[in-house]
Amino acid sequence: MRETHFGYAQVPLADKQALVDDVFHKVARRYDLMNDLMSAGLHRAWKDALVTAINPPKSDRDFALLDVAGGTGDVSFRALGAGGPGTHATVADINADMLAVGRERAAERGLDDAVTFVDANAEALPFPDKSFDAVSIAFGIRNVPRIEVALAEMHRVLRTGGRFLCLEFSNVDVPGLDALYELYSFNVVPAIGRAVVGDAEPYRYLVESIRRFPRPNAFAEMMRAAGFRRVSHRMMSGGIVALHSGWRL
Ligand SMILES: C[S@@+](CC[C@H](N)C(=O)[O-])C[C@H]1O[C@@H](n2cnc3c(N)ncnc32)[C@H](O)[C@@H]1O
Repeated sequence: MRETHFGYAQVPLADKQALVDDVFHKVARRYDLMNDLMSAGLHRAWKDALVTAINPPKSDRDFALLDVAGGTGDVSFRALGAGGPGTHATVADINADMLAVGRERAAERGLDDAVTFVDANAEALPFPDKSFDAVSIAFGIRNVPRIEVALAEMHRVLRTGGRFLCLEFSNVDVPGLDALYELYSFNVVPAIGRAVVGDAEPYRYLVESIRRFPRPNAFAEMMRAAGFRRVSHRMMSGGIVALHSGWRL
């Protein structure tokens, strides 16, 4: 039986998705607040860098973005804010609780027509080949059991000439900052989780899954194997996060 990791724990590949779903079921209502608290607001700058790279046109030209593992829609709302009236976002996520929060937020912002929420697994996207101008995934890929399958799917639905962008936690290599980050991750983050969500466990998973995620060069190889070209990445905030980019050519 093929095994994988759920945080640091070794689990059967077939069990990982249910464990991940349980994490996001627990945190969905407090998800956006927790992002602000845990990253001291930094996640906003990281997502804005992602949206700048997505580069939705300011004009009324049609532009279709697919945001995979898009959760409560944060990246999509930012992309819609940056783009013109022709920009449309599709949020695909496997978790109905995260999507429900996203739909409520879209309604509050009057964005019902500009964003579509779809219950979908990144490993089997329910969209035709080459149907999006850009595909993004933010802090999502490390939760997916078969990363290589999800990458192939995201490549399949991207049009030729389109860009794929992946924002993910990475490895802090700055001396001094690494020890501080370690301390913060394993002590402060679960404590905030306990205080705000009432449970430290989801946030322990989060921190452990970050440590297990492939290093940027290894992930770049996985992107190339899925068919992406001109693969590159940029570290942000001392390596806390990396923005990976690839094109379908
Ligand atoms: C850390 S959240 C990121 C949400 C959003 N992208 C953001 O940056 O605010 C991870 C998301 O991945 C979703 N997810 C996990 N496994 C998935 C899968 N196999 N397919 C699609 N979404 C998945 C979870 O439901 C959750 O909403």
